[in-house]
Amino acid sequence: MMNLKLKVIASFVDQKDTVIDIGCDHAYLAIYLKKNNLAFDVYASDIHVNALNRAKKNIKEANLKITTYLSDGFKNINNEHIDTAVIAGMGADTILNIIKNVPLHIKKIIISSNNHHALLRKALYHRKFYIKKEEVIYEKGKYYVIMLVTRNAIKENFLSLKYGKSKNKEYFLYLKKKEYDVLKKIPKRKIFKRIKHKKNLFDLNLVIKRI
Ligand SMILES: C[S@@+](CC[C@H](N)C(=O)[O-])C[C@H]1O[C@@H](n2cnc3c(N)ncnc32)[C@H](O)[C@@H]1O
Repeated sequence: MMNLKLKVIASFVDQKDTVIDIGCDHAYLAIYLKKNNLAFDVYASDIHVNALNRAKKNIKEANLKITTYLSDGFKNINNEHIDTAVIAGMGADTILNIIKNVPLHIKKIIISSNNHHALLRKALYHRKFYIKKEEVIYEKGKYYVIMLVTRNAIKENFLSLKYGKSKNKEYFLYLKKKEYDVLKKIPKRKIFKRIKHKKNLFDLNLVIKRI
C-alpha cells in the first residue's frame, strides 16, 4: 500500500522521468507511478527473489506492464533509457554502496535512508552529488527524510550537510530534545564528548532560527 513516504517520493518524480525503483519490495511505488501516469516510464528491481516475486504478482494484479530486474543495486540493470533512480527504505551504507556503481545516464536520485543522514549527505557531497531539496515527514511514530539528489558539484555549507534543507521545525525540535537527553547523561568529566553535543545543540538552534 502507498504510504506517505512513498507519496512524497512520487511527488519528486517528474512526468518526463524514466524511473527505476531500486529495492522496490512490493512495487507499490512503481505501480502508483505507472497507474497515474506520473512518469515517462517505470522499472522496478530488488536484490531478493522473494521480494521481486511479490512485486511481479502485484504488477500482474494491477494489470500493468512494468519491467523488473533481479539485481544488487545497478549491477544487472543495463538500460540507458533510465535517467532517475529511487533508493529508499535501506540503511545509508547500503545506499552508498549502490550509488558507488550508479551509471552516468542516471541524472537524478531520490533517496530515503533509514539512518545516518548527516553521513550520507557528506558522502554524497564528496562524490559530487548535490541535494537539491529535502522533505521530512512523520509517519507511524517515525520521521523519514527524503532527498532529491542531482549531479552537481555545488559548494554546500556545513549546516546543510549536517542537518539538511528541510523546513520541518517539529523534526528539528525532536532532534534537539534527543540531543539534550544525550547531553544530560554524559558525565561532567567527559569534557570533549560534552563539547561535541553542545555544538550539535548550538547548530540545531541555528537551523531552527533559519526556518
Ligand atoms: C524495507 S524495503 C523498502 C521498500 C521500499 N523501497 C520502501 O521504501 O518502502 C527494502 C528493500 O530493499 C531491497 N534491497 C536491499 N538491498 C538491496 C540492494 N543492494 N539492491 C537492491 N535491492 C535491495 C530489499 O530486498 C527490500 O525489498
